[in-house]
Amino acid sequence: MTEARSEVSLGMPQLPAPAYPAEVRARLEADAKEVIARYPGSRSALLPLLHLVQSEEGFVSRTGMAFCAELLGLTTAEVTAVATFYTMYRRKPSGDYQVGVCTNTLCAVMGGDAIFDRLKEHLGVGNDETTEDGKVTLEHIECNAACDFAPVVMVNWEFFDNQTPESATRLVDDLIAGRTVEPTRGAPLCSYKDTARILAGFPDERPGAVAATGGAGPASLIGLKLAKGEATPQPRVVSPRGEAPRDAAPRDEPQKGAEHLSSHDAPQETSASDPDNPAGPTAEEGE
Ligand code: FES
Repeated sequence: MTEARSEVSLGMPQLPAPAYPAEVRARLEADAKEVIARYPGSRSALLPLLHLVQSEEGFVSRTGMAFCAELLGLTTAEVTAVATFYTMYRRKPSGDYQVGVCTNTLCAVMGGDAIFDRLKEHLGVGNDETTEDGKVTLEHIECNAACDFAPVVMVNWEFFDNQTPESATRLVDDLIAGRTVEPTRGAPLCSYKDTARILAGFPDERPGAVAATGGAGPASLIGLKLAKGEATPQPRVVSPRGEAPRDAAPRDEPQKGAEHLSSHDAPQETSASDPDNPAGPTAEEGE
């Protein structure tokens, strides 16, 4: 006779998540209901609700996930699957300031890797680790669509553009010392918990935030301007290193001796145009 394996033998059973104190619960529930009412289906509110619970404790705790599951009629497994997928949700207590260094390709080659290495050494922490005073959590972050300002550092998701190892070191020193730091553009810096509340969909009503300007840079906006007819296309070809850029011939004037500007512009062979490689069965096969 085989013995059924108990839940305990498969691993330690998890205790239920502790509940929020009554006052916290009442406040979060009122906020959560406001968020849920914005969506036609309640489960669509999961992402902002995770930001909401993150704004309470600074990370998404088991208590926060149980709260989201209860309010949205989901299982805790469903909520956990989402909370662990997105890197903007923290799963453990972290620093007051999340210092994210973009080490995606463009920022990395423009100095992001050097900045990250310098901060690691300066702060004495590794990726996703927090300084002993609880002030700064250092993180690698992915591209934040600010490549024309590379290398980019983000503090609590506010932009600090065109950084160097020296400027990034000064930045974290200022944060640790409690000195005011100004993001390069956008809203003034606020605490990580306040940032999470804004991301949950509650407006940032600080005077400086309402007036904040300075979004994407010129290189990011050129596509939009082209689409609106506010800019003229300037076709260029990339030149070998060390040579000056050359203007490419306009597309309606093919270069001499070349039928197309590049092989990508040439019509590709398809089953309709290539009788040697038909898509369907050949005449013999069909017989
Ligand atoms: S690669 Fe860093 S912002 Fe795009």
